[in-house]
Amino acid sequence: MAKITAGVTTSHVPAIGAALDNGRAGEPYWQKVFSGYEFAKRWIAEEKPDVVFLVYNDHASAFSLDLIPTFAIGTGERFNPADEGWGPRPVPGVEGAPELAFHIAQSLILDDFDLTIVNKMDVDHGLTVPLSLMFGQPDAWPCKVIPFAVNVVQYPPPSGARCYALGKALRRAIESFDGDLKVQVWGTGGMSHQLQGPRAGLINAEFDNRFLDLIVNDPEAAAAIPHVEYIREAGSEGIELVMWLIMRGALGDKVDQLHRFYHVPASNTAVGHLILKGAA
Ligand code: DHB
Ligand code: FE
Repeated sequence: MAKITAGVTTSHVPAIGAALDNGRAGEPYWQKVFSGYEFAKRWIAEEKPDVVFLVYNDHASAFSLDLIPTFAIGTGERFNPADEGWGPRPVPGVEGAPELAFHIAQSLILDDFDLTIVNKMDVDHGLTVPLSLMFGQPDAWPCKVIPFAVNVVQYPPPSGARCYALGKALRRAIESFDGDLKVQVWGTGGMSHQLQGPRAGLINAEFDNRFLDLIVNDPEAAAAIPHVEYIREAGSEGIELVMWLIMRGALGDKVDQLHRFYHVPASNTAVGHLILKGAA
């Protein structure tokens, strides 16, 4: 039986990837960001997950306004870093886990979640920056990754409640896989940020910290937050936070918090990061 061994949340700011790739991680501005991930790097080196089910959003890299899947599961053997305008990030390609991914696709679709199946796509900063934050700069990522892309770019994104319910179904899917695998579920993106318009630069530390509390202790309340509240309180790109609810739904009712980090600024975004384990 495959097991969900932990959940991780983290922001995915592209400038974090650029800081690492361009040798600027030691600068004081970036040191403050990376210091919040030292615990995670030590922890994950011991945890050694076999597979990370990585919930992220594509930023018009693999998809565009031509094609907007609400939920898309990566079932391929390999996913390469996307060219987001400066050439692909110089990070390893991602090795998929097709057998588990197809099992999850079948289980979720038969559970009435209508996923898009993607055998071929490139993965952008939404997926590669969380890997860099958690694993640093290895020659190859130390585990397999199932990319799970959620549309939070073009209205209408899925509701938090739908993401939370999908997370619960994801738990059933992973736990019914016949294979002795340690699987982590990561919910990425957020926290508060707005990249355009008169409110560009918006950060709301009070909302973010309340959201961190709710994700840990009262996920039902977090799942009930409507889109308009995310937009009003956390900015237009704060809606990325619905992706964290997929991770939280997969962990079960009660969790233990192993680590929590919150930091502003990182580019235009408030960085939030949690490591959670399902409570025994
Ligand atoms: C920034 C944050 C994002 O989530 C993103 O996708 C692009 C840019 C930023 O903070 O600059
Ligand atoms: Fe983003």
